[in-house]
Amino acid sequence: MTAPAMRVRASRRFGDCVALADAALEVAAGTVHALCGENGAGKSTLMRVVYGLERADRGELELGERIDLARHGVAQAQARGVGMVHQHGMLVPTLTLADNAALGHEPVRGGRYDRAAAARALVAAAARLGQRLDPDALAGDLTVGEQQRAELAMVAARATRLLILDEPTALLAPREVDALFAMVRAFADGGGAVVLVTHKLDEVMAVADEVTVLRAGRTVASWSAEVTAAEIARAMIGGEPPPPATRAPTPAADAAIALAIEGVAAPGPRGGGAVDVTLRVAAGEVVGVAGVEGNGQRELALAVAGLAPVARGAVAVGGVDVTRATVAARRALGLAHVPEDRHLHGLVQGASVADNVALGRLAEVGRGPLIDRAAVATLTTQLLAAHDVRPADPAARAGALSGGNQQKLVVARELDRPGLRAVLAVHPTRGVDLAASARIHARLRDVAAAGAAVLLIAADLDELLALCHRVVVMHRGALAGELAGAALAAPDARARLGAWMVGATP
Ligand SMILES: Nc1ncnc2c1ncn2[C@@H]1O[C@H](COP(=O)(O)OP(=O)(O)O)[C@@H](O)[C@H]1O
Ligand SMILES: [Mg+2]
Repeated sequence: MTAPAMRVRASRRFGDCVALADAALEVAAGTVHALCGENGAGKSTLMRVVYGLERADRGELELGERIDLARHGVAQAQARGVGMVHQHGMLVPTLTLADNAALGHEPVRGGRYDRAAAARALVAAAARLGQRLDPDALAGDLTVGEQQRAELAMVAARATRLLILDEPTALLAPREVDALFAMVRAFADGGGAVVLVTHKLDEVMAVADEVTVLRAGRTVASWSAEVTAAEIARAMIGGEPPPPATRAPTPAADAAIALAIEGVAAPGPRGGGAVDVTLRVAAGEVVGVAGVEGNGQRELALAVAGLAPVARGAVAVGGVDVTRATVAARRALGLAHVPEDRHLHGLVQGASVADNVALGRLAEVGRGPLIDRAAVATLTTQLLAAHDVRPADPAARAGALSGGNQQKLVVARELDRPGLRAVLAVHPTRGVDLAASARIHARLRDVAAAGAAVLLIAADLDELLALCHRVVVMHRGALAGELAGAALAAPDARARLGAWMVGATP
C-alpha cells in the first residue's frame, strides 16, 4: 500500500456558516479524482485549504509527509508540488504566453531575463501533456479554452505532485473540454495526482478514476471503482434526483411570432457584442442560444431587455416595436427577463424580498402613485410558497438569501405572472443546485406550454437540448448555425453545435 499523493481532513466555519465539517479526501498518485457536490457543498473551500489559500479551523494534511496546517500557505503548497488552475483565467492578456509563464519565476541569463528559455520551458511543459502551443501568442488573442490549456501547462510544469482544477469547464465548448481532459489524463498517466472539482456528472464519467462527494461540508461517499452517475447524483443531493427536464409541446406551424429580433446590432462596451442577429420566436416555442461566453450573447440579451441600446435593427414583443421602449413598457407588453447578473439587474440586494417583488410587479400592486402593501404581502407570500424560496420571509433582505434562493425569487417574480408573452432567460440555472434547476426548467417548460415565447441563453448544451425546440449558436456576434426538430434529437447534435461554437464548420 503506497502512501496517497494527498490526504486531507478539515473543518472550517465562516461566521454561522459551516463550510467544512471534518470533510475528508484522499487522492492516489496517477489518478484523476473527481470532487463532486452541489453548490455550497464546500468543494472550493477544501481545495483552497490544500493549496494554502484558506485557513482550516482544524484538520490534517499530508502531502507525502505530514504538513503543519498552522504554517501552511501557498508557498508551502507549491514547494510540495501542488498547483491549482482557477476557473477564471489568471493570465495577463497583454503579455505573451511565454512571458505569462515566466512571471515571478523569470529565468535569468547574464543578469537578464532569458525570454527564449521561458518559451522553451513552456513549450516543453505543454508537449509533456500532449499539447502544442505558440509561446509568442498574446494571451488576450486566444480563446478561453486555449488560455486555459496554456495555464494548465504552466501550472503543471511546477506541480509535480497534485494538480487541482476547480470547475475548469464552465466556460468551455465541448471540444475544448475534451482537449483539457486529454491534458489532465496525460498528467495523471505521468504519475501525478489530479483533483477535478465539478458538479457535471458527464465529466466525471468521462475522465475520473475515483470520485468523492461532499454534501454540506461533509464527505458522504467515495468510490475508487465503477460507479454510476445516478449513484453520484443521489449522494450529492441526499435523495432521489429530480426527473429530467422535458420539452414543451411543439407549437403549431402558424403560431404568431411573440418575440422578434430583426437584424440587431448591440456592441459591447469594449467592442464585440452582437453584430447582426435575426431571431424570431413563436408563441409556445423555446429557442436556445448556445455559444462560448463572450460571443455577443450578453449584449444581445441586454438590448432585448431594454437595458442597453439597440445600435441597429429592431425588437418587437407581441408584434409591437419596442426597440426604443423602456424596460417598464416592455414589461407591460408581457416581456419577462431572468437576467444573467442577478446582483446588477435582478434584485435590489439591500431591499426586502417583498419590495423586490413589488418593484417588478407594479402593474399588479400599484394603486395610482402608491403601492398597495397588502397586495404586495399577499403576492409575495404566495410566490415564496409556490417556488420554494427559503426562508419564506417577505421581510428578509434579498441579499441575505443564498444564490440559489435569489434565483428562485427572480424566476418566481418574472415567470409566475399574468399576461406573460415572451421570456428572456439568461443562464437561469447557473449557480443553482439540482433541485432548484429542475424547478426552473419545469417553469420554463410550463410557461411555453401556456403560450409564451421563450428565448433561453445558456452555456450548458444538455440544458438546451432538453428544453428547446430549436437551438442557434452565437459566434463572434452572429448566428453561426441552427438545429431544430430531428436534427436536434440526433446523436450528433452536441458535436455539431460544439463545432459551431468554436467557429468550425461541422
Ligand atoms: N469567504 C467566505 N465567507 C463566507 N462564507 C463563505 C466563504 N467561502 C465560502 N463560504 C461558504 O461556505 C460554503 C461552502 O462554499 P464553497 O466551498 O465555495 O462551496 P462549493 O465550492 O462546493 O460550491 C458556502 O455556504 C459558502 O457560502
Ligand atoms: Mg466552488
